[in-house]
Amino acid sequence: MAPSSNLAIAHPRASPQLEPVGVAKPLLPAFDALEPYLRRIDANRWYANLGPLVLELEGRLADRFVRPTRIVTAANGTQAITLALRAAGATDGLCALPAWTFVATAHAALQAGLTPWLLDVDPDSWMLDPAAVRDALGRAPGKVAAVVPVSAFGRPMDLQAWADFHDETGIAVVADVAAGFDALDRAPVPVTVSLHATKALGVGEGGFIASEDAAFAQAVREQTNFGFRAPRLSEGVGTNAKLSEYAAAVGLAALDAWPSTRIRLLRAGQQLRMALALDSKVSFQPGWGVSWVSTTCVVGVPDGHAPALAVAAQAAGIETRQWWGAGCHRHPTFADLPRTSLEVTDHLAVSTLGLPFAMDIAGEAIERIARALRTA
Ligand SMILES: Cc1ncc(COP(=O)(O)O)c(C=O)c1O
Repeated sequence: MAPSSNLAIAHPRASPQLEPVGVAKPLLPAFDALEPYLRRIDANRWYANLGPLVLELEGRLADRFVRPTRIVTAANGTQAITLALRAAGATDGLCALPAWTFVATAHAALQAGLTPWLLDVDPDSWMLDPAAVRDALGRAPGKVAAVVPVSAFGRPMDLQAWADFHDETGIAVVADVAAGFDALDRAPVPVTVSLHATKALGVGEGGFIASEDAAFAQAVREQTNFGFRAPRLSEGVGTNAKLSEYAAAVGLAALDAWPSTRIRLLRAGQQLRMALALDSKVSFQPGWGVSWVSTTCVVGVPDGHAPALAVAAQAAGIETRQWWGAGCHRHPTFADLPRTSLEVTDHLAVSTLGLPFAMDIAGEAIERIARALRTA
């Protein structure tokens, strides 16, 4: 697989006798699981343009929601955010979003025509707090057209609170739940999910938007498909951000496997939690590996110690990662964006660490991670 922004698997310098433990080891459906779907594509001779496999994938994803919900697949999670913002009519003004996120969120807002306004996150949830954003609105350096709250590494967020925020303020809300596939079962505001290979349900490159508002979902669909409403009649500015039948085949096979994938992630997560249980200085995100799963494991470590721990782990052949770098504002592209004080984000940047994790992580690797952290 070609390395991409946050997937490049570095090769840590290992002690001579031990294999390095890489931070991420994506595992997508293998050939046998894909075969029936690939044969259907061969038989259909339909490869792109919202074919039967894409529609089936959207239907099966929608079935996971507790209320009637429409799913629109997209080329990736970043496009999903941009096109959801555009469909919400947010194409001019400020887009409030957390500085503690992957750069995709800020790029997506810029692509929609908005100026990201970087806000600080809540120190406990690592996410935007609707009440704090409402308070900050009075200090906004311009008109706020949208808010994009971001799920911290897949942690469930209170989407109803964001729906209430939208009802009270009239400001568009698009929730970026890139890594939150597992716990997502409602979409009272538009929610975007990434289907990137690093995510729990991966297709390679892909994403989707979920919405309980059928008209909004239709508007997103038009955004993904050249603004077509009637066949081949462009009635609005759009782009091509559709998922191919091949990516949908991977998604369908991944959904078939999801019950066992989820159990494997739970089992591996709980093994890691147990191995680190005696280390009171390492804290897991609440519920991670217990009530919700994801493919990344980001832990809290003692204040400011993440960089030193990363170096020590590297020396022991354990690769770690700051999945979100030091926060969006530390990237040259976003350094000049308007922002509030970002104390919590700056703190998280040096007090959290992405540990190696995969559904098939070996017990021996888990032991080595625990030992390296204890020793450090
Ligand atoms: C918080 C967040 N938002 C958006 C994205 C973008 O998803 P994609 O890589 O599918 O474009 C990611 C990807 O990791 C992410 O972590």
